[in-house]
Amino acid sequence: GARPLLIQGAMKVETSHMVEQLEGVEEYRLGQWYFASGTYKGLPLAIARTQWGLANAAAVTALAMEFFQPVAVINQGTAGAHDPALKNFDIVVGKETVNESAWKSLYRAEGEGIDGRALEKLGVFAYDKEAARFTQEVYHKADEALLAAARSVRDVYTKGRVTEGIIGTADSWNCQVDQVLFLHDFYGSAVEEMEGDAVAQICQTYDIPFLTIRVVSNTVFAGDVDWDLAVGAALQEYVLAVAEAYMRSR
Ligand code: 5AD
Repeated sequence: GARPLLIQGAMKVETSHMVEQLEGVEEYRLGQWYFASGTYKGLPLAIARTQWGLANAAAVTALAMEFFQPVAVINQGTAGAHDPALKNFDIVVGKETVNESAWKSLYRAEGEGIDGRALEKLGVFAYDKEAARFTQEVYHKADEALLAAARSVRDVYTKGRVTEGIIGTADSWNCQVDQVLFLHDFYGSAVEEMEGDAVAQICQTYDIPFLTIRVVSNTVFAGDVDWDLAVGAALQEYVLAVAEAYMRSR
């Protein structure tokens, strides 16, 4: 069939709403990961459930590249705020992603203590088709046509604001306000999550357009409160609108 747009989410609450909207749905497992494909308003979509974290997200992306040969990839889901202005239900469309565990700490001798701020950005390796080799980059830019699609349907989302910013990825969940403010300042990240930049890396290597879209489900600036998973379905409605706009524009 026609090459689909691939949309990823880590958890069931971040993917099931989209799977329910598919017509002619087929479900698969590649390895142990769950995938579904079908059409949405006549447009071919594939949905992948990555589970948490960079390694899972990268593995799922590479498997999906070979199995579905997607025209583009959207990684989406929940995130924690790094920007104090963001509230639950606000959406951040990722202009760029960055791996916030990719750093080299500045040298200190034994007994000189630990300084979590004394870092130099390191970046991660993805294939650069112009250079014809793997190059190390700190930030990965989103695809312009996917960004344009996300901008074109901004008004369909009414549960919060839709902003653009940098998405920070690591296998970490930061709950200390000063640590979050440091990361916001150091990397420029609007939010943190655990998959986006790993997917960006693999998409660049395969030369496939990529975008991350995240919805704030928790913010340390509101105090020590749990995440709100109701944001997951709200985001999926917006992401389906982005998917439709992108597929119709091709
Ligand atoms: N920090 C890191 N990951 C978060 N996620 C939601 N909020 C956060 C946060 N504050 C996302 C990750 C992962 C799962 C924990 O939810 O992307 O899939």
